Amino acid sequence: MSRIFHKVSERCRYFNWTSLSNWGRNKFHFLLRKSRITSYPQFVIVEPCNSCNLRCPLCPTGQRVPVERGSMNMETFTRIVDQLSPNVRYMSLYYLGEPLLCEHLSEMIRYAHQYKVRVFVSTNLNILDNKKAEELIRSKLDYIIVSLDGASQESYEKYRIGGDFHKVISNIRFLIKKKNEEKSLYPRIVIQPVVFKHNETEIPKIKSLAKDLGVDMTIRQGTLGGAGQSPPIMKDAKLIEQWLSQDEDYHKEYNYLNGKPYLKDEACYYLWKGITVNWDGSVFPCCWLYENKYSLGNILEQDFKTIWNNEMYVSSRSLFARRRSTFLKTRGSLPETICYKCKIFRHNLNDQ
Ligand SMILES: C[S@@+](CC[C@H](N)C(=O)[O-])C[C@H]1O[C@@H](n2cnc3c(N)ncnc32)[C@H](O)[C@@H]1O
Ligand code: SF4
Repeated sequence: MSRIFHKVSERCRYFNWTSLSNWGRNKFHFLLRKSRITSYPQFVIVEPCNSCNLRCPLCPTGQRVPVERGSMNMETFTRIVDQLSPNVRYMSLYYLGEPLLCEHLSEMIRYAHQYKVRVFVSTNLNILDNKKAEELIRSKLDYIIVSLDGASQESYEKYRIGGDFHKVISNIRFLIKKKNEEKSLYPRIVIQPVVFKHNETEIPKIKSLAKDLGVDMTIRQGTLGGAGQSPPIMKDAKLIEQWLSQDEDYHKEYNYLNGKPYLKDEACYYLWKGITVNWDGSVFPCCWLYENKYSLGNILEQDFKTIWNNEMYVSSRSLFARRRSTFLKTRGSLPETICYKCKIFRHNLNDQ
C-alpha cells in the first residue's frame, strides 16, 4: 500500500503539462517515423565524467579506449537542462564513466529537480565517503542503481576488475544508515547485476542479498559491445562464447543468436525519444557511441533545436522511414551518419 502511495506521490511531484503534451506529440512523431520533428526528447543521458576506477572488459572506459577524458562543468550541464526542460521527463546522470567521481554531481541533481526532471545514477559504488553520501541524500536523488554482478568477490571481480565486493555491500549499508539518520526516502537503492555466462547462476543469491539489505533489484542483460566496437558490431562469436548467458531469458532484449544482421527487430526509438550528451557537450544519438567523430553536434556550439533537426539527425531518422522508397528518395542528398552502420536496430539498409 505504501509503495503505491509513494508511486502516486512521485508521479504528482514530477507532473507537468508541457512534458505530458510533448510525450504525446513525440509518440506520434515516432509512430509516423517523421524525420523532422517539433517534439523534444523525453529522456536525456548526461555524462558527468568519463573516467573510472574499475576496468570492466566490455566497457570502453574500463578498457581505457584512447579518448579525451574529463568531467562536465556546471555551465555545460545548465545549458543542457535549460534547453531540454521542461519537456524531458527523466535523466540518466551517467554514461561511460563512474559518476561518483564527478565533484558537481549533487549540484547537477538539484538543478535538474528544479525543472521536475527525475534523476537516476548508476554506480559501481566502490567509493563512497560520508560527504558524498550526505550530498546524494540531500540532493534527493531519485534512484541510485548499484552495479553488483555477483554474490561473492570471486564472481564479482570477473567483470568488475579492480572492484571490491565487500566494499560495495558495506557502502550500501552505510547509505541506508545515513538515509535513516536523515529520515530520507532518497535515493531509492536498486541493485542491478549485469547478467553474463559467469554469473547467471548467482542471480537468485543476489536477489536474496538485496532482500536482506532491504533494497530493490532489477536485472540488466549483458551486452557484448566490446572495447573496440563503436559502433558495436555485436555478433562476435568469441564474445558470445565467453560472455553470453546460457539462459535465453537473460538475453531476450538483444538477440545475438539469430541469423539476422541486427539485434533488435524494431526501429531505433533513441532518434526520437532520447539524446545523449557527453561530458564535453558532444551530442550522440544513442548510448552506444563515444568517439567524437560520430557526434551529431555539440551543445556548446549550437542550440539544441538546431542540432535536433540538423541534416545528420534527419538523415539518421530517414533510415527508419516506414517506406524504403522514402528513404531511397533522400539518400545521397543527406550525409551518411554512424547510424547507417548500426547493427542493433532493423533499418532500411540492414534489411537489404
Ligand atoms: C558504463 S556504466 C557507467 C556507470 C557506472 N560506472 C556503473 O558501472 O554502474 C553504465 C551502465 O552500464 C552497465 N554495464 C556495464 N557493462 C555492461 C555490459 N557489457 N552490458 C550491459 N550493461 C553494462 C553498468 O552496470 C551500468 O549500469
Ligand atoms: S564501473 Fe562502469 S564505467 Fe567503470 S569500467 Fe565498469 S561499466 Fe565502465
